[in-house]
Amino acid sequence: MTETPTSDPEIDFNPFDPAYRADPYPYYRRLRENAPVFRTPLGHWLLSRHADCAAVLRDPRFGHGSPQLLDGNTFRRPVNGRARPFILLDPPEHTRLRSLVNKAFTPRTVARLAGRVRELCDGMLDDLVGAGEVDFIDRFAYRLPVTVISEMLGVPEADRDAVRDLSSLVARGVDPDFQHSPEAIAERDAAFARFDEYFGGLLAERRRAPGDDLLSALAAVQEQGERLTEPELLTTCILLYVAGHETTMDLLGNGLLALLRNPGELRRLAADPGISGTAVEELLRFDPPTQMSRRTALEDAEVGGQAVAKGEQVVILRGAANRDPDAFPEPDRLDLTRGSTKHLAFDGGIHFCLGAPLARLEGSIAFAALARRAPNSELATGDLRYRDNLIIRGLAELPVRLNP
Ligand code: HEM
Repeated sequence: MTETPTSDPEIDFNPFDPAYRADPYPYYRRLRENAPVFRTPLGHWLLSRHADCAAVLRDPRFGHGSPQLLDGNTFRRPVNGRARPFILLDPPEHTRLRSLVNKAFTPRTVARLAGRVRELCDGMLDDLVGAGEVDFIDRFAYRLPVTVISEMLGVPEADRDAVRDLSSLVARGVDPDFQHSPEAIAERDAAFARFDEYFGGLLAERRRAPGDDLLSALAAVQEQGERLTEPELLTTCILLYVAGHETTMDLLGNGLLALLRNPGELRRLAADPGISGTAVEELLRFDPPTQMSRRTALEDAEVGGQAVAKGEQVVILRGAANRDPDAFPEPDRLDLTRGSTKHLAFDGGIHFCLGAPLARLEGSIAFAALARRAPNSELATGDLRYRDNLIIRGLAELPVRLNP
């Protein structure tokens, strides 16, 4: 089943239209200009102004709610007694679980990874620069973050291909159930079960023989008597693993595509690698990997002058908010030195991305290395295909020539 929110030509917002997948931004503009707080026939409120989205993310009257309040999003209904990941929990459970992970996932741990990230980028570029047409997603955008998060967590290299398929099934699982066939839902639930089994085995090994990795640290947090049940620990491992690379892969893919379509900006970065930090923020703003998130009104509230009743759902259109001219002058122009961090690519409230420092580190090192070593790179096709996800926006392949 697909939801066609409107046939009004002034608005014409249909996220299931293939043209939307290729370029959602004209759709967002029409929505923002004509119906910035828009109610779909299924009763979701779509928010496309930056101010409204940012306000909801900070407002404790909006959250995820109890399972009873929710409709068909798999992450939100318990699957075989699994715990909900803390990305979908409200305080106080969210606060408790997030702070336990924070103990193991410190900024210092992340900063220590810079040398390794550089080494990985250089090694891949040694093979790819000047090698003719290559698929940047498979050969770089996927490999960098999956290697980094696997090494951080302690997932052995030999297992990585096997967990790759599980991971993409789980990543699709963030889309609402109505987008999937019953077979796809069964396949995804089976992937969760196999993932649980996999991480359960690894954690048991780390308890016997702790290593210098995040899984050992999380197991230790649990053993120090903190309140962390086994199902919560398993769900947290999967959250970190999947969130730790699926979205960063799309930062690298969507970001390189934006640079190739704006070659002047690519050469600007090549000439001044010092701007790589602001470049990453701008690339995240321009085409964010996570396009939307949903929140439930936990009590009667109001958004952008519109009353929203308890139990109703609002959808934060991050991609639309990031192109709102009231927040970003000339929003459709890519400007690597724009220097604004108020984009919503990493969220903006209590669920602000826990992995943002890692994603920023990987992004700034990767784009600086790409610009330095391959400033004359070009797209090898005009025919791009996006993965069939609603919430996460990323290319299935990105054929390029990385020219020195
Ligand atoms: C460019 C890459 C990334 C983007 C765009 C991104 C985006 C986001 C967004 C938008 C949220 C909030 C979702 C919501 O509230 O609905 C989030 C939360 C989260 N992200 Fe990321 N993320 C990225 C990389 C990472 C990495 C590398 C990790 C590392 C493990 C990570 C771990 C998490 C976790 C654990 C949460 C849940 C935080 C909470 O609920 O308190 N993310 N991310």
